[in-house]
Amino acid sequence: HSIAAIVPAAGVGKRMQSDTPKQYLTIGGKCVIEHTLEKLLQVAAIEKIVVVLSKHDDVFETLAIAKHPRISTEIGGAERVDSVYAGLTSLNDEYQWALVHDAARPCVEPGDIKALIATCTESTEGGLLAYPAKDTIKRANADGNVETTVSRELIWHALTPQMYKVHDLVKAIDFSLAQQFTITDESSAIEAVNKPSHLVVGSSLNIKITSPEDLHLAEMILQQQVNT
Ligand code: CTP
Ligand code: MG
Repeated sequence: HSIAAIVPAAGVGKRMQSDTPKQYLTIGGKCVIEHTLEKLLQVAAIEKIVVVLSKHDDVFETLAIAKHPRISTEIGGAERVDSVYAGLTSLNDEYQWALVHDAARPCVEPGDIKALIATCTESTEGGLLAYPAKDTIKRANADGNVETTVSRELIWHALTPQMYKVHDLVKAIDFSLAQQFTITDESSAIEAVNKPSHLVVGSSLNIKITSPEDLHLAEMILQQQVNT
C-alpha cells in the first residue's frame, strides 16, 4: 500500500516555556523525537519517515537516528499545517498514503498505529486515532460560566497519527488554506472537503507533550511501556 509517515517537528514549543524546543527535551536518556521515531520504526508497513524541521534546527542532524535509512528530513513552515504540507509535497508518486504523526507524541503505541493502518487500507478511506470523551462536557457562555451540558456520546478526542491518501490530503489542505479555514489537524482539512474519516480507538495515554507537567506524565507512560 506504500505508506510514508510525516512527522511535523518544526514547532518552537511556546507553551512548554523551555529554551530547547520540546521535541529535543530528554526523557530517560533519549529526547522526545527519538522516542517518537523509534515507535514509528517498529511499524514495518511504514516505508519512509519524513521529519519536518525548522529552518533554524541544528539539533536533529546530530542525533544517531537521523542516519536511519528510512528517515529523511524537510524544512517546515510557520504553522503546523505548513510543515505537514511541506512533508507531503516532498513525497514522490510511489507513496499512496501519508500517516501524519506529531513529533511531540512519543507515547503512541505501535499496536494503535497498526490498527489505524489496517482500518484505512481495508476501507481505502482515511482516518485518525481518537478516544471517546470520558468527562462530562460543558459548553460555556461568553462570561465563562456554564451554559449547558453537551451530550458526551458523540464527542471524541483527536490524536495522531492521522492517515489519508497523499493526493486527497494535499487537495484538502489546498482548499482549506484557500478558504482560510483553521486547520489544526489533517482530519479538519478532510472534513472541509466532505471526505470520510474513520475514528479508530487509540490509547488516551498517547498524549501530546504541550506544557511542563506533560514531561513527567510522558516519562511515566514510557517507563510503563518498557515494563510491559
Ligand atoms: N509543528 C510544526 N511546525 C509548526 C508548528 C508545529 O512542525 N510550524 C509541530 C510541532 O513540532 C509538534 C506538532 O507540530 O510536533 C504539534 O504542534 P504543537 O504541539 O502545537 O507544538 P508547538 O507548536 O511546538 O508548541 P506551541 O504551540 O506550544 O508553540
Ligand atoms: Mg503549536
